[in-house]
Amino acid sequence: MSVYKSLYDTMPDGREVYIFKIENNNGVYAELLTLGATLASFVCPDRDGNMGDILAGFDNLEGHLNTTTYAGQIIGQYANRICDGTFTLGGRKYNVTKNENGVTCLHGGDEYSSALWKAIITDDNAVEFSYHSPDGEQGFPGNVDITVQYVLTDRNELEIHYTAATDKDTIVNFTNHAYFNLGTIQNGDILGTVLQLNCDFFTPTDARSIPTGEIRSVEGTAFDFREPKPIGRDIGADDEQLKLCGGYDHNFCINGDAGTLRPAAKALDERCGRKLEVWTDLPGVQLYTGNFMNGEPGKGGVALQKHYGFCLETQYYPDTPNQPGFPSCELKAGETFRSLTVFKV
Ligand code: GLA
Repeated sequence: MSVYKSLYDTMPDGREVYIFKIENNNGVYAELLTLGATLASFVCPDRDGNMGDILAGFDNLEGHLNTTTYAGQIIGQYANRICDGTFTLGGRKYNVTKNENGVTCLHGGDEYSSALWKAIITDDNAVEFSYHSPDGEQGFPGNVDITVQYVLTDRNELEIHYTAATDKDTIVNFTNHAYFNLGTIQNGDILGTVLQLNCDFFTPTDARSIPTGEIRSVEGTAFDFREPKPIGRDIGADDEQLKLCGGYDHNFCINGDAGTLRPAAKALDERCGRKLEVWTDLPGVQLYTGNFMNGEPGKGGVALQKHYGFCLETQYYPDTPNQPGFPSCELKAGETFRSLTVFKV
């Protein structure tokens, strides 16, 4: 096991961005940036032992700064969308940034994902990032202190441990927005990747990608990934939900008890044999198939085209603060939020 820190680059305003590399005894490694506490690369062997980076993303600061993809970033204070950028908590109405077409709040108005985080090496296989979100920032109540600790084990698990505390009742929803491409971006899109989701239900949305409140069975729909199937098999199906967002961009309800670490997803690229398992204690996972990737120059200069990566964003359901039927994402003043997501290769 080893962990190294080095200077990555300097922001236009002069602030320094650092990169950490955690490597395990199998030669598997992850690279992390203080910008957005970003998971920048995750390198693992294929069935013949060839190492490859399974994350679609960027290999320079410019790419990370200019992207609209959120690739690898930690998202907060509320991942995914809040309808009309407003919600009521404790009888008070809050207005948060409407950064998506001036209509919805997407990914907390980019606050956490564009911040420069503090970082310390906490073990020979672990780095902890921390960020302080001031009360009222992007409209969210409370001084929120968050830590995100990445730990890489010799079982090839990348654990992402989240903790947060607040001094006012607030809402929280943190995720990592990594785009996976198990065959690496040099080998094209992810439509052939075989995916299995441990999810019997999903949350359909309206045209703004806001959940309607319905919790719909996947049975008999293109959203049924209970048995492994290629991501692209049904992506073009005559399904109103897929047409609304040009592919999958939906929250799935993970079977089993939230609060308990349980499998959410498994993926396999049959061409090279690289695989991924996602485990989490959160209620939901957003399957997003890179429908809005628009050719930004990615690692090695490869254009990140539509469907060049898929995301499995573990989360509370989108727009939970406005959906009384969804599991609550409230964090009370004085309480500590804890959550764990694991990416195993
Ligand atoms: C999330 C959203 C998508 C899209 C991406 C970023 O996954 O659900 O609609 O905004 O982030 O492009």
